[in-house]
Amino acid sequence: MTIQWTADLVVGINSIDTQHRELFLRVNSLLDVASGGNGNQKTKEVILFLCDQVMACFSLEEKFMAQYRYPLANCHQVEHDRFIEDLTHLTHGYDAKGASTYLVMGIQRRVCNWLIDHIDKSDRALGNYLKARL
Ligand SMILES: [Fe+2]
Repeated sequence: MTIQWTADLVVGINSIDTQHRELFLRVNSLLDVASGGNGNQKTKEVILFLCDQVMACFSLEEKFMAQYRYPLANCHQVEHDRFIEDLTHLTHGYDAKGASTYLVMGIQRRVCNWLIDHIDKSDRALGNYLKARL
């Protein structure tokens, strides 16, 4: 099971799209490791690797939002903050339970669905705003 990158998720700003594609690769690495029942240490490394990329994506977009005074920046920021909270809960849940099924289901429900929805709506809106200004 994987999360698929498709052309309709392109938001039209190269640096943002590149970060998003890398994010999908890392989500897939995590799904791979978690569903393969690999050791906890490896899984934890891949979780942290994914978290790094989430932070890189969000900081890039937040930098653009501030620089170009994006009017919907506050709402967009709240969505990012909530996702980070959710990801933190998922990671802590995994630390406590150590169950790969729990992790795989959590990633699918809370990470994959959120990413596709957020990119399709909020990041696309940001991309359209930036395209007119870059
Ligand atoms: Fe975003």
